[in-house]
Amino acid sequence: ARVSYGALTATKGEYKHFMLKEIHEQPDAVLDTLRGRVQFDPPGITLPDFPFSDDRIRSFNRAIIIGMGTSLHAGMVGRMWIESLAGLACEVDNSSEFRYRDAVLDENTLVISISQSGETADTLGAMDLAKSRGARQLTLCNYEGTQSTRVADGVLPIRAGLEISVAGTKTFVCSLVTLYALAAYLGVKRGYLSEERLANIVQELLHLPEMIGQLLSDQSQYERLALKYGRRANFLFLGRGKNYPLAMEGALKLKEISYIHAEGYPAGEMKHGPISLIDRKMPVVALVPQDDLYEKMLSNVNEVKARRGSVVAVAAEGDKHISEKADEVIWIPKASANITPILNAIPMQLLAYYIAVERGCDVDQPRNLAKSVTVE
Ligand code: G6P
Repeated sequence: ARVSYGALTATKGEYKHFMLKEIHEQPDAVLDTLRGRVQFDPPGITLPDFPFSDDRIRSFNRAIIIGMGTSLHAGMVGRMWIESLAGLACEVDNSSEFRYRDAVLDENTLVISISQSGETADTLGAMDLAKSRGARQLTLCNYEGTQSTRVADGVLPIRAGLEISVAGTKTFVCSLVTLYALAAYLGVKRGYLSEERLANIVQELLHLPEMIGQLLSDQSQYERLALKYGRRANFLFLGRGKNYPLAMEGALKLKEISYIHAEGYPAGEMKHGPISLIDRKMPVVALVPQDDLYEKMLSNVNEVKARRGSVVAVAAEGDKHISEKADEVIWIPKASANITPILNAIPMQLLAYYIAVERGCDVDQPRNLAKSVTVE
């Protein structure tokens, strides 16, 4: 009820669609997510009302992240942060699969559910299973008082503000930011994250709203890309490491609102099937940040070009190699490998948005989809 009441009173303001408005709200939404959680001097992460003692946090030997749709994709990135920042073994699973598996859980397992609505039936079912098997639970949610917040031992509000467009945008980004802060928090409490790394994380988090603002400032490129590629029947999205989930999310956004068939793949998997689809009609969106996997992504780009596919690369400003290889480059600000997936969310959203507009689709209310799926 809470969500639909807000929806009645919300307006699009100067924007043509709620989705575009919500995309633009992201710098402020991220600021809200960080407020009171990230301290500059001395560098620190605080999570008020965190339900577990420091001893309990050290006793966890495993975490499992669960969610559906866009929230699942956020969880896939969160998993990698929890491994690398907190040194905690972490898995991620689709709630609808997890709930019917014979998952082995105990009180040293931390289950982290992500559900912006707090009402997704499969995620609630998965949480019930986790509870019955004695796991400890945290949930990330955008609305207080929803069912997921009642089941979990503790809640991390993502503070995205009301989101009306069916395709999640700012809830995705705010879930990512919350997960990143959580991973750093767990890392500090477990004595895994050095002060130096923490200081770098804090420093970069505080610049995040500004970097997102920069990505939103000029959108003419997306209108051009939509004209160029908007009538294609298929798209492939490729990424590696922390950007593989972003490839999944880019494909999901595009299919949700433009009805173009799109697949997101870990780029290393391309040779095992999807490469047979590549011809001159296939646009490939390649996430190519300058991280440890850069060279590997470059060779994937070469493989696509060798088969005459078109490559739209999303790459870090100043990368000269990629502009020689790709047909188009969307530039993102230079940032660490940890924060880059958050930045990459913005081009994924804008590309899908402008293509859907170009195709005349009902962006905010795509056919057959609902904002929260309260039945199985
Ligand atoms: C629906 C929405 C998606 C969302 C998913 C999970 O399918 O259309 O945008 O990602 O549910 O929603 P949740 O509220 O659990 O994050």
